[in-house]
Amino acid sequence: MSTRLEDTLAWMNELTAEMEERRKAVHRGGGAARQKKQRDAGKLTARERVTALLDEDSFVELGVFTEHAGFEMMRGLDAPGEGVVTGYGTISGRTVFVFSQDFTVLGGSLGKMHAQKIAKVMDLAVKTGAPIIGLNDSAGARIQEGVDSLSGYGEVFYRNAVYSGVVPQISAILGPCAGGAVYSPALTDFVLMSRGSSYMFITGPEVIKSVTKETVTFEELGGADVHGRRSGVAHFEADGDEAVLATIRELLSYLPQSAKEQPPFKQTEDPESRETPELLGIVHPDQRRPYPMVDVIRAVVDDGGWLEVQPEFAKNILCGFARLGGQAVGIVANNPRHLAGTLNIDASDKAARFIRTCDCYNVPVVTFVDVTGFLPGVAQEHAGIIRHGAKMLYAYAEATVPKITLIVRKSYGGAYLAMNSRDMGADVVLAWPTAAVAVMGAEGAANIIYRREIGGSQNPDSTRAAKISEYKERFDNPYWAAGRGYIDDVIDPKGTRQQLIRHLRMLREKEEARPFKKHGNMPL
Ligand code: HXC
Repeated sequence: MSTRLEDTLAWMNELTAEMEERRKAVHRGGGAARQKKQRDAGKLTARERVTALLDEDSFVELGVFTEHAGFEMMRGLDAPGEGVVTGYGTISGRTVFVFSQDFTVLGGSLGKMHAQKIAKVMDLAVKTGAPIIGLNDSAGARIQEGVDSLSGYGEVFYRNAVYSGVVPQISAILGPCAGGAVYSPALTDFVLMSRGSSYMFITGPEVIKSVTKETVTFEELGGADVHGRRSGVAHFEADGDEAVLATIRELLSYLPQSAKEQPPFKQTEDPESRETPELLGIVHPDQRRPYPMVDVIRAVVDDGGWLEVQPEFAKNILCGFARLGGQAVGIVANNPRHLAGTLNIDASDKAARFIRTCDCYNVPVVTFVDVTGFLPGVAQEHAGIIRHGAKMLYAYAEATVPKITLIVRKSYGGAYLAMNSRDMGADVVLAWPTAAVAVMGAEGAANIIYRREIGGSQNPDSTRAAKISEYKERFDNPYWAAGRGYIDDVIDPKGTRQQLIRHLRMLREKEEARPFKKHGNMPL
C-alpha cells in the first residue's frame, strides 16, 4: 500500500516538475538576449509590466500554455505563451483584466491564438463587470499566419466595439505598434503612450518612403509627441513604462468598474465649505485678457487634484478628471490662454469624446465657460467645423449624467450652446458676476444692428461707442440671462466649491430617460 502511495507521489512529482518546467519556458518568453534588447531600449518585459501595473502578488495568469496555431510558415517556430501574457489581478483592490504583449516573442505579433487569449480576457471582463487593460507592444498582424492573423484582429476589434461603454477599456502603447496593433487601441476609451519608446502607425517609414517618397523617422511619424499633440490619438503621454502604468492606476481611480456602477467615492479632508478667494485674482475683468483656467479648476476641486486628458492637444479646451466633495467629476473648460479659448475642430472632437466617455461611465460633467465662439476662418470652415462642432452639441445633449455649467466670463453665440447651456440639457447653470451671455461681443453686435445709425451719424465714433455701451449694459452681465431663467443663480466666486458640491450631491440620484432608439446617429 505504502509503495503504491510512494509511486503515485513520485509520478505526481514528475508531472508537476514537468508542468513547472513548461511554465518556466513560457516565462522565459523570447529568451534572455531578446529580453536584454527590450531592457536596453528602456522598456520593461511583458511580465514586469503586469507586475508593475497590478497590486502586489495579485496577478492570476490564464492561458499560460497556449501555443500558436499557425501551419506551414510557422512550423518549427516557438512562440512561448503565444506572445501575450493574459489574466486578471487588482488595482487598489479592484479587479481588472489585463493582456500584455511580449515583443520578445515574434515581435509581439498577433496570431490566431494570441488573439483568442486576448478575446478570452475581454469576454471575462464583460461577464464579470471589470475594466480591461491592454499593454500593447506588437509588430501587428503575424505575417506567417496570413488571414488567420487578420481574423484574430477582427475578433479583438469586434469586442472592442461591442464592449465599448460596457466596461472601461484602456490601452497602453509601450513599443512599436504597427498596422492592426493600432486599431484596437484606437477603439478603446483611453490611449496612453510612453515617450521615446512607443510608436503608432498604420504603415511604417519604409513603406511610406517607397510609396510617397517621404523620409520620416519612427518618432516623427508616430511617436508619443505626435499622437499626444498633433493627431489627438493619445490621451496621455508619460516618460517610460512605469510612469504610463502609474497613470493607468490613477485614471482608474476616477472610473467605475462598469457602466452599471458609480465611480468610486474618495473621502477628502478638503472641507466642502472651503472658500476660494484666490479666484477673485485670477479672472481678469478685461474680457480680452487671458488667464489660466486650470488655476480656477485646481482652486475649486478637492486638494487641487486634476488629471488632465490630452493636455497638449487642442489646448483651447481643457478636459480632465477631478473630485468635488469626494465625488469623481469630468471637467470641460475653455482655456482663454490658447486661441482665446475659442472652439475649433480639434477642441470639438476632444471635448465631445470626453463628454461621451464620462457619460458612458456615470461620471458627472462640470463645465467652466469662457468662450467668444467658434474659431472663425476659411480653413476651419472647409475642414468641417460644422460637422465637428456638431459633435459637442450632440454629446452634451445625449449625456444623461448630472451636468452643471458655470459661466465664468464670456459665453457667446453657438459656443454658449456648445458649452452646455440650459437648453442643451444642463441640470444646473451658475454664473459669476463677471459673466456675459450674448449672441456676440458688444462691438460686433453694435456694428451690425446699429450700422445705419452709426453710418448716418455726424460723429460715427461716439455713436458707435454709445451703442456698444448700450448693448453692454443690456447683455454684458449675467442678469439678463438669469432673468430669463437660463441661469439658476449668480454666485460669489469665493463660494464656487461649496455650490458645485451641493448641486452635485443633489443630482446624485438623477435619472433621465430618452425616447426609444436603436442608437443615435452622432455626426462623425
Ligand atoms: C511576425 C514579426 C513581425 C510580424 C516583426 N517580427 N514583425 N513576426 N509578424 N508582423 C519579428 C521579427 O522577425 C523579429 O524576429 C522580431 O519580430 C523583432 O522584429 P525586429 O524587426 O527585429 O524589431 P525592430 O527592429 O524593433 O522593429 C520593429 C518593427 C518591425 C518596426 C515593428 O519589426 C516591423 O516593421 N515589422 C513589420 C510591421 C508590419 O508591417 N506589420 C504588419 C502590419 S499589417 P526575431 O526572431 O528576429 O526576434 C497589419 C494588418 C492588420 O497589421 C490590419 C488590420 C486593420
